[in-house]
Amino acid sequence: MPFANSSSTFLLFLCLLISTLPFHSLSQFSFPNPRLEKAYIALQAWKHAITSDPKNLTGNWCGPHVCNYTGIFCAPAPDDPSITTVAGIDLNHGSISGTLPDHLSLLSDLALFHLNSNRFSGMLPSSLCDLRRLFELDVSNNHLSGPFPDFVLRLPELRFLDLRFNAFLGDVPAEVLNGGGSAAKLDAFFINDNNFKFSLPANLGNSKASVIVLANNRIEGTLPASIGGMGKTLNQLVILNTGLAGCIPPEIGNLKRLTVFDVSFNALVGPLPASMGEMKKLEQLDVAHNFLSGEIPEGICELPRLKNFTYSYNYFCGEPQRCLKVRRQDDRRNCIPWRPQQRSPAECAAFLSRPVHCDAYHY
Ligand SMILES: *[C@@H]1O[C@H](CO)[C@@H](O)[C@H](O)[C@H]1NC(C)=O
Ligand SMILES: *[C@@H]1O[C@H](CO)[C@@H](O)[C@H](O)[C@H]1NC(C)=O
Ligand SMILES: *[C@@H]1O[C@H](CO)[C@@H](O)[C@H](O)[C@H]1NC(C)=O
Repeated sequence: MPFANSSSTFLLFLCLLISTLPFHSLSQFSFPNPRLEKAYIALQAWKHAITSDPKNLTGNWCGPHVCNYTGIFCAPAPDDPSITTVAGIDLNHGSISGTLPDHLSLLSDLALFHLNSNRFSGMLPSSLCDLRRLFELDVSNNHLSGPFPDFVLRLPELRFLDLRFNAFLGDVPAEVLNGGGSAAKLDAFFINDNNFKFSLPANLGNSKASVIVLANNRIEGTLPASIGGMGKTLNQLVILNTGLAGCIPPEIGNLKRLTVFDVSFNALVGPLPASMGEMKKLEQLDVAHNFLSGEIPEGICELPRLKNFTYSYNYFCGEPQRCLKVRRQDDRRNCIPWRPQQRSPAECAAFLSRPVHCDAYHY
């Protein structure tokens, strides 16, 4: 018995010793392959950086079988199907607090990284640029901060980038927006509801993205005319509440695949271009709460799929009867003499007496 006792005491001591060692010197387990060993090191480092895990999602993140950890998904390595590696992480809606350690870069086969609706804070470590296979990065709805994570521009496979509802701030690199360099494959990016402050690059239209959501940030300047260049790819464009100024360029009419266009709560001026009547796939159109004026072009209200056209809180002075037949439409608080709930004639006269300047900087 004394022997058994001293042996279990020794084991306990060994465990305590091991748990205080730096992760990279751990070798008490044998792993099926070196990549799973690196994944183990990364995940243990991450577990140490977690301060609260109310759903106990990481409770079973112990021992060498990382593929059995909650939220960790393994698959055959793309370059060597005979070995298994960590291909995905999904801890969505975990309410986990903590930070994201540099060690996560050891997950070199990670393709999907989904962390939405947690409480991670601090920055996204730039070491994540080592995740050469990363395809989807979703860290939305956390407390992440710092500048735009530039490393995403060096992820050659990245298609889906979701940073929305965090506290990122400052500029957004033009390449993210115009799909330059290694952002060429970016198909969807959501950066809404942060503290970014940026301009739309003149060559925005070079982007091949199908979904662009920039809402609730600060944008200086106007919608570039090149936007028409995205006619074959762009499906949704949401730029509400950003301070976007100037006129809507007539090239917008080239966006023949766009289904959702929302530029409400901005400082847009001038008329709605008649070319918008060519946006045949449009279903949701929201231009409310701007300084738009003129007549609503009839072609817009004749768009075959238009279900919801909101143009309230502007200074439009007329709308074709056809517009009243759109399934949902809102024309309140304009200057349309024969419609209810319009602005006062004095308010309209005061606005219309000022000339319109499409160039935002001179408005
Ligand atoms: C968390 O999960 C682990 C492993 O599943 C379990 O042993 C532990 O008791 C759990 N903790 C709580 C507080 O539920
Ligand atoms: C995962 O867990 C199951 C049972 O919980 C076990 O049978 C299996 O061996 C484990 N696999 C790995 C790779 O650890
Ligand atoms: C119509 O658009 C408005 C403004 O964007 C939105 O608040 C409303 O929910 C939409 N209604 C439907 C049924 O899509």
